[in-house]
Amino acid sequence: MRGPSPGSLPQIAFAGRSNVGKSSLINLVLGRTRTAIARVSATPGKTQEINFYKVRAELDDAETQFFLVDLPGYGYARAPADQRRRWKPLMEWYLGETKELRGVVQLVDIRHGPTKDDLQMVDYLAHANVPALFVLTKADKIKPAQLRSRVREIADKLGVEDDQVLAVSTLQKLGQGELLESLGALLGTDENREAEGTE
Ligand code: GTP
Ligand code: MG
Repeated sequence: MRGPSPGSLPQIAFAGRSNVGKSSLINLVLGRTRTAIARVSATPGKTQEINFYKVRAELDDAETQFFLVDLPGYGYARAPADQRRRWKPLMEWYLGETKELRGVVQLVDIRHGPTKDDLQMVDYLAHANVPALFVLTKADKIKPAQLRSRVREIADKLGVEDDQVLAVSTLQKLGQGELLESLGALLGTDENREAEGTE
């Protein structure tokens, strides 16, 4: 099957459980850059879709264009069985075939830590050899004094360095500056995924 590409621009995908705050965060990034210029949809299945948002942003003093990709959420217990069955092949298709993919922003609810589903996804990203950035959502839901230790605790459970983990709140507009910087860093990686190959 042809790779899910609406164009040759680099892509950064947002992944996470249903309700973790993916769409809210994408809206925040789009609002901040004020240049959502197009929206393209790819709908291989009937009930799940991957949405592409074309973004033009000023990153590292240079105008950069890329796609923010909203991946279907997982772990929603009440999702129809059919929809849950489709999730895996859809993700394998997207992660395996997208040559333009520069990285995945993996969202985790700061209150619930990484769930079993989240850890499975992280494992999956590691296997697909995709650079990952971890964003802890809904940081407004915990006491500011607990933020650092919570970030450290979750980084530990994820098996990554603290500096790969960022706490955000769309409610308090916390962390989006750092997020944009990190997106810029992901877009700047000239690592050749194709050479590494995927399974
Ligand atoms: P699916 O599309 O179902 O996979 O969910 P999603 O991951 O896109 O989550 P969405 O952005 O729709 O947000 C889910 C709920 O969390 C909504 O009620 C949001 O208002 C809420 N929410 C999102 N971000 C925050 C946040 O930073 N703080 C708080 N307190 N609530 C948030
Ligand atoms: Mg959503």
